[in-house]
Amino acid sequence: MKRATLATLAAATTLALPAATAADTVDIGLLLPFSGVYASLGNEIEAGFALGLATYGNELGVEIILHREDTEVTPAVGLARTRKLILQDDVDAIVGIVSSGVLGAVRDLVDGAGVPLIVANAGNDEATGEACSPWITRVSFSNGQVNRPMGRWMAEQGIETVYTLAPDYAAGRQMIEGFAGAFTEAGGTILGSDFTPFQQTQDFGPYIAQAQASGADALFVFYAGGEAISFVNQYASFGAGDDLPLYGSGFLTSQLYVDAQGPSAEGVITALHYVPTIDNPENAAFVAAFRDATGRTPSEYAVQGYDAARALVEALETGARDRETLGAALRQVSFDGPRGALAIDPATNNVVQPIYVYETVTGEGGMTQIVLAQLPAEADPVNGCAMPSMPTN
Ligand code: PHB
Repeated sequence: MKRATLATLAAATTLALPAATAADTVDIGLLLPFSGVYASLGNEIEAGFALGLATYGNELGVEIILHREDTEVTPAVGLARTRKLILQDDVDAIVGIVSSGVLGAVRDLVDGAGVPLIVANAGNDEATGEACSPWITRVSFSNGQVNRPMGRWMAEQGIETVYTLAPDYAAGRQMIEGFAGAFTEAGGTILGSDFTPFQQTQDFGPYIAQAQASGADALFVFYAGGEAISFVNQYASFGAGDDLPLYGSGFLTSQLYVDAQGPSAEGVITALHYVPTIDNPENAAFVAAFRDATGRTPSEYAVQGYDAARALVEALETGARDRETLGAALRQVSFDGPRGALAIDPATNNVVQPIYVYETVTGEGGMTQIVLAQLPAEADPVNGCAMPSMPTN
């Protein structure tokens, strides 16, 4: 565990806030993968979170004590670390979680303990659907939300048949389900789907060959982190691109690792809730500040960490300081951020946001993104969520 004080006591007189006292301290668990196939994602979310606290939290007059825990990419590890944060560190709220599998594993614990969780990545549809909780607020995306619009958009482009590939775990299955449902509803046909063993597949060649043999118009995939780098590089070497153009969930060609793919990513078309080339003043300021702080261009993972910090600060600005008051305040946050207008849907506690279709191309300083379409703000269907009211302890 690392204790880090990011926002120290500031002069309360400068703020329209309750006067800061020594008791204005909150303990926050930062629960991310710092090892394993999603380690770079965890580090990027942490960098965005630190920038968000520095940007919005410095004047707050509240001392934020961070308790940093590594989930790896393993549900049982994530559950053990969450238990430690809640029982031993007595945190007031938790921020983080990258893997849908880890989110599924900790859902009952945070819900039962009444600890607010700001989800800063994991798209698990159930956490804001049939397993929704007043304690879980997601500022990142849901797996269905990112992929449904792309299913409709690809059908509109005249693509009639698609083959799909994704890692075999909750996020892979839900991303493909979201895409395929919308694509078929819009008149398309899925010719075949494969799910590759998660964190274990070294050679994607046999799966790509199978997709090519299907005769589909296009291949649609979800991969992220180290698997996205291997997949895109192997796909380019395989040389199927002319017959079978590559589309995907935008994590495939994330700014975070697109330079490790380099020209292999050229021309790949994907969809996501954020790309660093979005043209609005909040994004320009964020990109400049993130580059100053880290020397690199921010990805969707960075903006998710940044917006998670901003949501936490907005909740603290209402005077919330403990689990119950923070939990209630987090569900009310809304602001214009780098990805556009952001609000939490009270029916599910999932973020509502536009989705961008983008093409990856070679730019001056490395690979970059051209936005092809901004699709309207997408709220999830309630997916079986009957949101309970917040219990009062
Ligand atoms: C997930 O497991 O929900 C997940 C992981 C990595 C991503 C997106 C979603 O880039």
